[in-house]
Amino acid sequence: MPKKILVLSGSPKRDGNTAMLVEWFAEGASSKKARVEVISVAFLKYKFPGCTSCRACQKTEEYGCVIEDDARPVLKKMIESDVIAMATPLYFFAASAQLKVIIDRMFSLYKWDNDAGTMETPLKGKTFALIASAYEDVGMDALERPFALTAEYTGMRFESLLVLNAGVSGDLRKKEGVREQAVAFGVKIASAEFTSP
Ligand SMILES: Cc1cc2nc3c(=O)[nH]c(=O)nc-3n(C[C@H](O)[C@H](O)[C@H](O)COP(=O)(O)O)c2cc1C
Repeated sequence: MPKKILVLSGSPKRDGNTAMLVEWFAEGASSKKARVEVISVAFLKYKFPGCTSCRACQKTEEYGCVIEDDARPVLKKMIESDVIAMATPLYFFAASAQLKVIIDRMFSLYKWDNDAGTMETPLKGKTFALIASAYEDVGMDALERPFALTAEYTGMRFESLLVLNAGVSGDLRKKEGVREQAVAFGVKIASAEFTSP
């Protein structure tokens, strides 16, 4: 079975560094017969920016957000994918706000029983990949940490491609060796065997 890879691209620049990395990553993954779908989450339309903490999702059997907007089909695709990849520029030592908005809606993909102290999620066992770039070489560890923690908490395997000193939007196009790095990351993610945590 070909691997299904969903890429959520969180940059507002359609042809910037994040877009380049995602394109090269998809090229590598596709060469290993993975089915790659890229969604530019910066251009989705939401009723609210982020999770409203209404907790309606915790009162239903299904996994998914009750708010009917563009996040819903994306959350459904996350459940259906083998790999969830998230791509973002470093913005003030964190992920872009555009990506964070959809991340918080992932609350609806977990069911907590606080009395029993349990959590269940259909995301368990998937691979969670982070693709990020920054102008300089400071702060990428701060960006990576919440993604790594989310993967650990969820029971997902975590992988990352972090490109430091990437310059301003579009500079990566002419930076030597990065294309190869991103293609190789795509190959690796598409080839990796799943090991259920
Ligand atoms: C709002 C904003 C905040 C940024 N903050 C940082 C930062 O804290 N550290 C850094 O190294 N680069 C920072 N950058 C630069 C971008 O992370 C970097 O140029 C990235 O590769 C751009 O990717 P893009 O072309 O997909 O937007 C910032 C850029 C913007 C527009």
